[in-house]
Amino acid sequence: MNVQVPVIGAIDELRRYVRAHRVAGERIGLVPTMGALHAGHLSLVEAARRVADRVIVTIFVNPAQFGPNEDFARYPRTLAADVEKLSSVVADLVFAPSVEEIYPPGFATKVVLDGPARADLEDRFRPTHFSGVATVVTKLLNQAQADVAVFGEKDYQQLLVIKRLARDLDIATEILGAPTLREADGLAMSSRNIYLSPEERERAKELCAALREAARRILNGDDMGAATGAARAALAGAGFDVDYLEARNAETLAPVETLDDGPIRLLAAATLGATRLIDNIAVEP
Ligand code: PAF
Repeated sequence: MNVQVPVIGAIDELRRYVRAHRVAGERIGLVPTMGALHAGHLSLVEAARRVADRVIVTIFVNPAQFGPNEDFARYPRTLAADVEKLSSVVADLVFAPSVEEIYPPGFATKVVLDGPARADLEDRFRPTHFSGVATVVTKLLNQAQADVAVFGEKDYQQLLVIKRLARDLDIATEILGAPTLREADGLAMSSRNIYLSPEERERAKELCAALREAARRILNGDDMGAATGAARAALAGAGFDVDYLEARNAETLAPVETLDDGPIRLLAAATLGATRLIDNIAVEP
């Protein structure tokens, strides 16, 4: 039987925990999440475990990163099941604060971003999203003072935003990206996949398929605009409402035209029914 991972909600307690383990010479790893954990999250915990002695998972559905018409109210909140899953991997502590703990009355500060947060990708469709992410991530990194924090490549633009943020604000925590975990048919694992109806779930694999086909064509020397245009058309044909599917420089998110502008990443967001899916892949042999 697994021993249940302890859950705390107070910043003071988190700080005491980190201090005690630091004094013992241990390296602290942090995995920030919004809960509704799946195998992809557990792989982030395992990635943190490989580089840290203690792994803290944060679970906080951050209201500041949802737009007014987004799914904050219905976002799955499954703390008991999450704790169960974390007890089966090697997490040492869950930090699951309340909204009041993170945003007490009078809270009046937010992080303003440029660079990868204004790449005209997610930010075009979710204009306040990255500021909300950056504000809560800055707080969590300051609260935990971890040596390393792991974020998924699934949210690729977010990962670059957080790396830039940590560098620009002199946050000492090293930011690591970890690869996207996929279902057998290629669909990137996401807490939001549970919104898909069985019929949409079947079609959802087309997002990854379109990205893979575009990557294949680009590597074969096809024009990038033609390859990404064909992928957008394939998705529209499969019933997706495509927000974007674009080739960008993987480090800066600047637009690219040829493989010489690389390393190249293909990034996409598209809605199927009421569910908005995002995905990205590297264009590499
Ligand atoms: O990727 C997520 O789950 C969230 O955006 C994060 C980084 C935990 C911030 O709320």
